[in-house]
Amino acid sequence: MDEIRKIILDCDPGHDDAIALALAGKGKGLELLGIGVEAGNQTLGKTGRNALSLVEYLGLDVPVALGADRPIKRSPLTCPEIHGETGLDGFPFKEIERKFDERDAITMMKDLLLANDKVTLVPTGPLTNIGLLLQTYPEVKPHIEKIVLMGGSMGMGNVTPAAEFNILCDPEAADIVFSSGLPIYMLGLDVTRKALVTPKVIKKMKKVKNKAAKLFVTLMQVYNENQFKTFGLKGGPLHDPATIVALLNKDVFTFKKMNVSIDTSGGPSYGRTNCDISSFLGLPANAYVATDIDRKLFFKTVKKTLERYSK
Ligand code: BDR
Ligand code: CA
Repeated sequence: MDEIRKIILDCDPGHDDAIALALAGKGKGLELLGIGVEAGNQTLGKTGRNALSLVEYLGLDVPVALGADRPIKRSPLTCPEIHGETGLDGFPFKEIERKFDERDAITMMKDLLLANDKVTLVPTGPLTNIGLLLQTYPEVKPHIEKIVLMGGSMGMGNVTPAAEFNILCDPEAADIVFSSGLPIYMLGLDVTRKALVTPKVIKKMKKVKNKAAKLFVTLMQVYNENQFKTFGLKGGPLHDPATIVALLNKDVFTFKKMNVSIDTSGGPSYGRTNCDISSFLGLPANAYVATDIDRKLFFKTVKKTLERYSK
């Protein structure tokens, strides 16, 4: 029998985080140990409520804990132009009955890690929680097999010419993570912007009659409109789900090992992921960066996984 991969998701839902969460909860061969939440796409009160609503709606039995309400050093950023005032505009969740885990996200992740081995961390928001976890409890490191994150870009940014949102939200935390010595897999804008949810994708997903597909279709309609208004994109990019898809099917993304450093200068490139693909600097490679995507296989994996949910 294939080995089950234990994962911890750390997110800031967010439309694309919501789909990543749905995939993480039912991914074949994945065991979701817990979900940490931080401020990012919206304030912590909103991203936390969204995470709990999603877990309840999808019927997942997994602890959700609240983490950082602000970045380590810089002032907070949010993204209402894409995710709306609630952080997850468009889906009519009912009143939540579930409660948050009593621990804060960093303590919960520490406990889960110390009780398990070979855990994969999957950050799909700013790296504040993970940065604080590694800084506060370095003893968890031997329990982490790898970190598969959505963030950064080899090329252009999506908030400044140089920086992608998750990394720009907390460059100091990202620096801790990328300097940690742990194996890092970076799914950046170079590939996630190719995973566009076109009307054709939505049409196919409409045929899947279950709650996860309903979530996908409803959220992606709002997300697509906002992505079009803000960036002129012909569909919403499924940034965050790329992390889970990379775990579910090793053939979807191509990775190249290279040195990645984070610009923490505070200048115009603050928050940039400097990806030294040609090894100009001769520094040790610390990350596997996704350089290409098989888009067809990507959406096939997303659909197949969402089909695992009940009606
Ligand atoms: C990232 O920023 C957020 O708005 C998305 O949820 C994703 O994690 C893309 O830059
Ligand atoms: Ca996110």
